[in-house]
Amino acid sequence: MNPILSAAALPPTCALPPDFSQSQFRHALGQFATGVTVVTAINPAGGLVGLTVSSFNSVSLSPPLVLWSLAVKSGSMAALLACRHYAINVLSAEQTALANQFATKDIDRYAGVHWKGGQHGAPLIEGAVATFECFNRSRHEEGDHIIFVGEVERCSHRDQADPLLYHGGAFYTGGLRG
Ligand SMILES: Cc1cc2nc3c(=O)[nH]c(=O)nc-3n(C[C@H](O)[C@H](O)[C@H](O)COP(=O)(O)O)c2cc1C
Repeated sequence: MNPILSAAALPPTCALPPDFSQSQFRHALGQFATGVTVVTAINPAGGLVGLTVSSFNSVSLSPPLVLWSLAVKSGSMAALLACRHYAINVLSAEQTALANQFATKDIDRYAGVHWKGGQHGAPLIEGAVATFECFNRSRHEEGDHIIFVGEVERCSHRDQADPLLYHGGAFYTGGLRG
Protein backbone atom coordinates (compact mmCIF):
# COMPACT_ATOMS: atom_id res chain seq x y z
CA MET A 1 0.00 0.00 0.00
CA ASN A 2 1.14 3.51 -0.73
CA PRO A 3 2.80 4.66 2.54
CA ILE A 4 1.12 8.05 2.18
CA LEU A 5 -2.25 6.32 2.47
CA SER A 6 -1.31 3.89 5.26
CA ALA A 7 -2.92 4.39 8.66
CA ALA A 8 0.44 5.21 10.23
CA ALA A 9 0.72 8.24 7.94
CA LEU A 10 -2.72 9.62 8.82
CA PRO A 11 -2.61 12.96 10.61
CA PRO A 12 -3.65 13.10 14.28
CA THR A 13 -7.38 13.57 14.78
CA CYS A 14 -6.91 16.99 16.33
CA ALA A 15 -4.20 19.65 16.48
CA LEU A 16 -1.91 20.22 19.43
CA PRO A 17 -2.74 23.39 21.35
CA PRO A 18 -0.73 26.42 20.16
CA ASP A 19 2.63 26.97 21.86
CA PHE A 20 2.56 30.68 20.87
CA SER A 21 0.57 33.72 21.92
CA GLN A 22 -2.06 35.38 19.72
CA SER A 23 0.29 38.33 19.33
CA GLN A 24 3.13 36.07 18.10
CA PHE A 25 0.67 34.50 15.65
CA ARG A 26 -0.46 37.92 14.38
CA HIS A 27 3.14 39.07 13.91
CA ALA A 28 4.10 35.89 12.05
CA LEU A 29 1.04 36.24 9.77
CA GLY A 30 1.94 39.89 9.20
CA GLN A 31 5.13 38.77 7.43
CA PHE A 32 2.99 37.54 4.56
CA ALA A 33 2.78 40.53 2.21
CA THR A 34 -0.61 41.06 0.61
CA GLY A 35 -2.51 43.51 -1.52
CA VAL A 36 -5.42 45.43 -0.05
CA THR A 37 -9.03 45.25 -1.21
CA VAL A 38 -12.35 46.84 -0.34
CA VAL A 39 -15.27 44.39 -0.46
CA THR A 40 -18.48 46.22 -1.37
CA ALA A 41 -22.14 45.31 -1.53
CA ILE A 42 -25.64 46.69 -1.27
CA ASN A 43 -27.58 45.52 1.79
CA PRO A 44 -31.20 44.29 1.57
CA ALA A 45 -32.46 47.78 2.48
CA GLY A 46 -30.48 49.29 -0.39
CA GLY A 47 -27.71 50.73 1.81
CA LEU A 48 -24.02 50.78 0.95
CA VAL A 49 -21.75 48.20 2.60
CA GLY A 50 -17.95 48.13 2.40
CA LEU A 51 -14.90 47.14 4.38
CA THR A 52 -11.16 46.80 3.93
CA VAL A 53 -10.01 43.21 3.42
CA SER A 54 -6.52 41.78 2.89
CA SER A 55 -7.47 38.09 3.16
CA PHE A 56 -8.43 38.01 -0.54
CA ASN A 57 -6.92 35.22 -2.64
CA SER A 58 -7.46 33.25 -5.82
CA VAL A 59 -9.00 29.75 -5.66
CA SER A 60 -9.79 28.42 -9.14
CA LEU A 61 -9.46 29.50 -12.76
CA SER A 62 -12.28 27.30 -14.07
CA PRO A 63 -14.75 28.02 -12.68
CA PRO A 64 -13.34 31.44 -11.72
CA LEU A 65 -13.36 31.46 -7.91
CA VAL A 66 -11.83 33.72 -5.28
CA LEU A 67 -11.98 33.75 -1.48
CA TRP A 68 -11.71 36.16 1.39
CA SER A 69 -12.52 35.88 5.09
CA LEU A 70 -14.67 38.02 7.33
CA ALA A 71 -14.45 38.25 11.14
CA VAL A 72 -17.54 36.78 12.80
CA LYS A 73 -17.83 39.98 14.86
CA SER A 74 -17.86 42.17 11.73
CA GLY A 75 -20.70 44.66 11.54
CA SER A 76 -20.99 43.91 7.82
CA MET A 77 -21.61 40.19 8.39
CA ALA A 78 -25.43 40.21 8.15
CA ALA A 79 -25.37 42.16 4.89
CA LEU A 80 -22.66 40.02 3.33
CA LEU A 81 -24.40 36.78 4.30
CA ALA A 82 -27.64 38.08 2.80
CA CYS A 83 -26.43 39.58 -0.48
CA ARG A 84 -26.35 37.56 -3.69
CA HIS A 85 -23.52 39.58 -5.15
CA TYR A 86 -20.57 41.62 -3.93
CA ALA A 87 -17.56 43.27 -5.51
CA ILE A 88 -13.90 43.07 -4.58
CA ASN A 89 -11.94 46.22 -5.38
CA VAL A 90 -8.13 45.85 -5.39
CA LEU A 91 -6.75 49.19 -4.23
CA SER A 92 -4.03 51.14 -5.98
CA ALA A 93 -0.96 52.70 -4.34
CA GLU A 94 -2.83 56.05 -4.40
CA GLN A 95 -5.68 54.67 -2.28
CA THR A 96 -4.15 54.29 1.21
CA ALA A 97 -6.71 56.78 2.54
CA LEU A 98 -9.52 54.56 1.27
CA ALA A 99 -7.96 51.50 2.96
CA ASN A 100 -8.07 53.38 6.28
CA GLN A 101 -11.52 54.87 5.63
CA PHE A 102 -13.10 51.48 4.92
CA ALA A 103 -11.55 50.01 8.10
CA THR A 104 -12.91 52.80 10.36
CA LYS A 105 -16.03 52.30 12.48
CA ASP A 106 -18.92 54.75 12.79
CA ILE A 107 -18.15 56.97 9.82
CA ASP A 108 -19.67 57.28 6.35
CA ARG A 109 -17.15 55.03 4.60
CA TYR A 110 -18.37 56.15 1.19
CA ALA A 111 -17.86 59.87 1.88
CA GLY A 112 -15.92 61.35 -1.05
CA VAL A 113 -15.61 57.96 -2.76
CA HIS A 114 -16.19 57.87 -6.51
CA TRP A 115 -17.90 54.63 -7.50
CA LYS A 116 -20.41 53.23 -9.92
CA GLY A 117 -22.72 50.25 -9.57
CA GLY A 118 -21.64 47.03 -11.23
CA GLN A 119 -23.83 44.53 -13.07
CA HIS A 120 -25.81 43.73 -9.92
CA GLY A 121 -25.30 47.07 -8.18
CA ALA A 122 -22.27 46.29 -5.98
CA PRO A 123 -20.05 49.41 -5.89
CA LEU A 124 -17.00 49.47 -8.16
CA ILE A 125 -14.51 51.99 -6.80
CA GLU A 126 -12.92 54.38 -9.27
CA GLY A 127 -9.14 54.03 -9.46
CA ALA A 128 -8.99 50.42 -8.24
CA VAL A 129 -6.27 48.39 -10.01
CA ALA A 130 -8.70 45.49 -10.44
CA THR A 131 -12.33 44.72 -9.71
CA PHE A 132 -14.07 41.37 -9.36
CA GLU A 133 -17.87 41.21 -9.45
CA CYS A 134 -18.80 38.05 -7.57
CA PHE A 135 -21.79 35.82 -7.09
CA ASN A 136 -21.89 34.95 -3.35
CA ARG A 137 -21.32 31.24 -4.03
CA SER A 138 -20.53 29.71 -0.62
CA ARG A 139 -19.58 30.48 2.96
CA HIS A 140 -17.54 28.32 5.34
CA GLU A 141 -17.37 28.83 9.10
CA GLU A 142 -13.82 28.40 10.45
CA GLY A 143 -12.76 29.62 13.87
CA ASP A 144 -13.51 33.31 14.37
CA HIS A 145 -13.92 34.01 10.64
CA ILE A 146 -16.25 33.01 7.81
CA ILE A 147 -14.57 32.22 4.51
CA PHE A 148 -16.52 33.58 1.55
CA VAL A 149 -16.01 31.96 -1.84
CA GLY A 150 -17.08 34.18 -4.70
CA GLU A 151 -17.72 33.11 -8.28
CA VAL A 152 -16.43 35.87 -10.50
CA GLU A 153 -18.96 37.02 -13.09
CA ARG A 154 -17.04 40.03 -14.35
CA CYS A 155 -13.56 41.40 -13.76
CA SER A 156 -11.51 44.36 -14.91
CA HIS A 157 -7.96 45.58 -14.39
CA ARG A 158 -5.72 48.55 -15.11
CA ASP A 159 -2.31 47.83 -16.63
CA GLN A 160 0.67 49.85 -15.38
CA ALA A 161 -1.05 50.81 -12.11
CA ASP A 162 0.79 50.19 -8.84
CA PRO A 163 -1.13 48.20 -6.20
CA LEU A 164 -1.31 49.14 -2.53
CA LEU A 165 0.67 46.61 -0.47
CA TYR A 166 0.35 45.61 3.20
CA HIS A 167 3.09 44.01 5.30
CA GLY A 168 3.81 43.89 9.02
CA GLY A 169 0.85 46.16 9.76
CA ALA A 170 2.04 48.92 7.39
CA PHE A 171 1.04 50.07 3.91
CA TYR A 172 3.59 50.26 1.10
CA THR A 173 3.10 52.40 -1.96
CA GLY A 174 6.55 52.29 -3.57
CA GLY A 175 5.56 50.43 -6.71
CA LEU A 176 6.70 47.06 -7.98
CA ARG A 177 8.42 48.10 -11.23
CA GLY A 178 12.12 48.79 -10.86
C1 LIG B 1 -5.18 46.36 5.76
C2 LIG B 1 -6.40 45.80 6.44
C3 LIG B 1 -6.84 44.53 6.12
C4 LIG B 1 -7.99 43.97 6.72
N1 LIG B 1 -8.40 42.74 6.37
C5 LIG B 1 -9.51 42.20 6.93
C6 LIG B 1 -9.99 40.92 6.52
O1 LIG B 1 -9.42 40.25 5.66
N2 LIG B 1 -11.12 40.44 7.12
C7 LIG B 1 -11.79 41.15 8.08
O2 LIG B 1 -12.81 40.68 8.61
N3 LIG B 1 -11.36 42.38 8.48
C8 LIG B 1 -10.24 42.92 7.92
N4 LIG B 1 -9.81 44.15 8.28
C9 LIG B 1 -10.52 44.87 9.33
C10 LIG B 1 -11.81 45.54 8.84
O3 LIG B 1 -11.62 46.32 7.69
C11 LIG B 1 -12.34 46.45 9.98
O4 LIG B 1 -12.43 45.70 11.18
C12 LIG B 1 -13.67 47.06 9.65
O5 LIG B 1 -13.93 48.07 10.61
C13 LIG B 1 -14.80 46.04 9.69
O6 LIG B 1 -15.98 46.72 9.39
P1 LIG B 1 -17.42 46.19 9.83
O7 LIG B 1 -17.33 45.83 11.29
O8 LIG B 1 -18.31 47.33 9.51
O9 LIG B 1 -17.69 44.99 8.99
C14 LIG B 1 -8.68 44.73 7.68
C15 LIG B 1 -8.24 46.03 8.01
C16 LIG B 1 -7.13 46.55 7.38
C17 LIG B 1 -6.70 47.96 7.72
